[in-house]
Amino acid sequence: MIDLPSSQKNKIQTDHTALLGNARDLIDTHVLTPANLLNVLALYKEALNLLWIGFYWVDRERLKLGLFQGPVACLSIPFNKGVCGKAWAQEKTIMVDDVHQFDGHIACSSKSNSEMVIPIKKENKVIGVLDIDSEAYGFFDDSHKEGFEALIVLLLKKELI
Ligand code: SME
Repeated sequence: MIDLPSSQKNKIQTDHTALLGNARDLIDTHVLTPANLLNVLALYKEALNLLWIGFYWVDRERLKLGLFQGPVACLSIPFNKGVCGKAWAQEKTIMVDDVHQFDGHIACSSKSNSEMVIPIKKENKVIGVLDIDSEAYGFFDDSHKEGFEALIVLLLKKELI
């Protein structure tokens, strides 16, 4: 059980439908956007025992580090480099079961063993990515892909990203 505000206690679930509900309940648009985003990232990191979860945002030809929860990360990633840059270039979600086998993987933490990167689009253009790392090999599957894509839709709708 993780520590949640008293209104949320005993509600935490690890399935994505429930997690999305937790996220929706946690978001309070009367507080600063970074506070809401960091809270949602913390929720998913704790519930799914992730190593790292956070955003990179497109800035000309590079992805620049945004808000995240987890170990210290790389500040800037070129287009088409690493899992993040490739997800941006290919405009599709990339799931990597074993990052040590991924050609060009950028290792920000030696503890990361699997990774998923989801491009974030506005008006059909990639504006950034959501990057998620796990210490477990083969952690990510289609249920995670759908769950995190639904989270991105929620954050866009709430105008938090
Ligand atoms: N592994 C990523 C770099 C970002 S860190 O995982 C936070 C990549 O290969 O693009």
